[in-house]
Amino acid sequence: MSNAKGAGLSNIIAGSTAISTVGVEGEGLNYRGYSIADLASKASFEEVAYLLFEGELPSKTELAILHGLLAEKRNLPKELKNILEHIPKYAHPMDVLRTGTSALGCLEPEQDSTDQKDVAIRLLAIYPAMLLYWYHFHFSGRRIETNTEEKSIAGHFLALLKGHKPGELEVKVMDSSLTLYAEHEYNASTFAARVSASTLSDFYSAITTAIGTLRGPLHGGANEEAMLLIQDFSSVEEVEPKLKKRLANKEKIMGFGHRVYDKGDPRSPIIKEWSLQLAAQSNDTQIFPISEAIETMMWDTKKLFPNLDFYSASTYYFMNIPLALYTPIFVCSRITGWAAHIFEQRANNTLIRPSAYYIGPGARRFLALEKR
Ligand code: COA
Repeated sequence: MSNAKGAGLSNIIAGSTAISTVGVEGEGLNYRGYSIADLASKASFEEVAYLLFEGELPSKTELAILHGLLAEKRNLPKELKNILEHIPKYAHPMDVLRTGTSALGCLEPEQDSTDQKDVAIRLLAIYPAMLLYWYHFHFSGRRIETNTEEKSIAGHFLALLKGHKPGELEVKVMDSSLTLYAEHEYNASTFAARVSASTLSDFYSAITTAIGTLRGPLHGGANEEAMLLIQDFSSVEEVEPKLKKRLANKEKIMGFGHRVYDKGDPRSPIIKEWSLQLAAQSNDTQIFPISEAIETMMWDTKKLFPNLDFYSASTYYFMNIPLALYTPIFVCSRITGWAAHIFEQRANNTLIRPSAYYIGPGARRFLALEKR
């Protein structure tokens, strides 16, 4: 099927955007014209969120206002807590966020598109609490207090997860990771959100659609799969024979390759550097060297490079983040990019409805049921 006409919409320009460039020669990954390297090292995730929503970096006052709104909108309504408590422990946390978003859309529906920015900020603010209230209720047997002293989303997330003030390096790494995951042009989940928005559906429906699309291992789910892969090797020496076998079996190695980038993912060296720093801090002698051995072999044998998901896996591992929360962190970040695309789609809307090449049978005579 991969040779079928139009398969996967590969290389097809499906619309215009002023939000980001991905893989454009000489530009790499830029959000609103700013390079990902600058944003990940010099701006906070909240500045990036503002940039994506508003098109410009915030002034100090504008940033302070955003921080105020985010702190105000972190609270979980009691009806939502109740719903989260009824979602079983064995549910995947991505399903929890999908259902939680849908539930919030019933409790606090969008009145009309004039309050779309309020809804976007509400979701950005509430996701860490939505996820970690459910998580602690089932896995720690506690109903956690979802307000923390932490001003940043990164710090708030880690404080809720760990139940204490997080370390400075961890907050910095999480903040940078949220920036790296924030936006990526017409990726599958963003495109899905735009399709939903193009029907004039509500904001929550578009985001629910995006979460369902992000969940798959060919998209956001790759960071969890990459960690499972790394943990399958108990030493650097094991990498070559075991990986060779997987490749000979035509297995997809999660965290490698990209639909748009052909030379490398500009986000990968940034997250790899954070992973290395955390590895040093935790005296790791296994996970990081194994990851590098996988990277070397994937390049030597297949000319495939790591994408953002690969070193995000070990980065989260070193921060003691449970595996099932890796992809949900992507949601806590990508809500910013999805929201910016929904605003953009709505501002100049045309229903997205492509056509297909028909490959089924030709015209046939209908046979009545009793004659079949
Ligand atoms: N491991 C092994 N082989 C890979 C591969 C990987 N991660 N990514 C691509 N390839 C190979 C394919 O097997 C295929 O080989 P073939 O031509 O011999 O059949 C070739 O490279 C093209 O791959 P294809 O899947 O058709 O390219 P794509 O543009 O559709 O795929 C991805 C892009 C991202 C879906 C793909 O690279 C992939 O599945 N990666 C792993 C999942 C992942 O990390 N997703 C996160 C993306 S940010």
